[in-house]
Amino acid sequence: MSDHPGTDRTIEIAPSVLPADFAKLGEEVAALEAAGVDRIQWDVMDGRFVPNLTFGPDVIAACRPHATVLFEAHLMVEEPDELASRYVDAGCELLIVHAEACRHLHRTLGHLRELGARAAVALNPATPASAVEHVLDLVDLVLVMTVNPGFGGQRYIATMEAKVREVSAMITAAGLGDRVHVEVDGGIGPATVAGAAAAGANVLVAGSALFKDPAGLGHAVDELRSLALAARPEH
Ligand code: DX5
Repeated sequence: MSDHPGTDRTIEIAPSVLPADFAKLGEEVAALEAAGVDRIQWDVMDGRFVPNLTFGPDVIAACRPHATVLFEAHLMVEEPDELASRYVDAGCELLIVHAEACRHLHRTLGHLRELGARAAVALNPATPASAVEHVLDLVDLVLVMTVNPGFGGQRYIATMEAKVREVSAMITAAGLGDRVHVEVDGGIGPATVAGAAAAGANVLVAGSALFKDPAGLGHAVDELRSLALAARPEH
């Protein structure tokens, strides 16, 4: 176990599908895999927890045969327990619920695991790291939002790096450093990824930075990965 929190975990690039061409999502998902991403994040929004509406389980199920990488569903919804099984059935191996949406977070995470999924918890920018301290043994990943959820293309909130460092240290202190990932999401791109990786994040979600790179998806994925690796504490 390294004494640098977060360095036991491999760097992973996870695209957000929000900027993709919705008219050809299956092809877009296949192109992301061909570009070398490590997993794919589906931003699920219910119009209540966040002021936007996105992917129902049937859309994800239709795209599942087009890629083999892990699908994670980021559930930005008011009642994740109600919807969870449908996203598992759609082919999502990991479900991320928001701590702010769960009255009984410990029970909800247990429920996700009972459904056969890997469980994860997300924190909005204003929510402290302590909100997940007592559920780390139940999760595979903690997501520190680096924007207020609901839309792509927003500005990265750099002050979240202190919370990334705190969450990463909490995970290592709990002896879970080689099992529980730290993910960041929102405004991640060539100018911001180094700060997040240096703070201890290893799963890096990016939407605009991948889909809007004029040199293409492959170049964007490689660039983010090399910038993140170079920023890691052990370098
Ligand atoms: C926002 C979503 C993010 C967003 C990322 O609520 O959770 O995944 O789509 O997009 P960019 O990378 O453009 O900020």
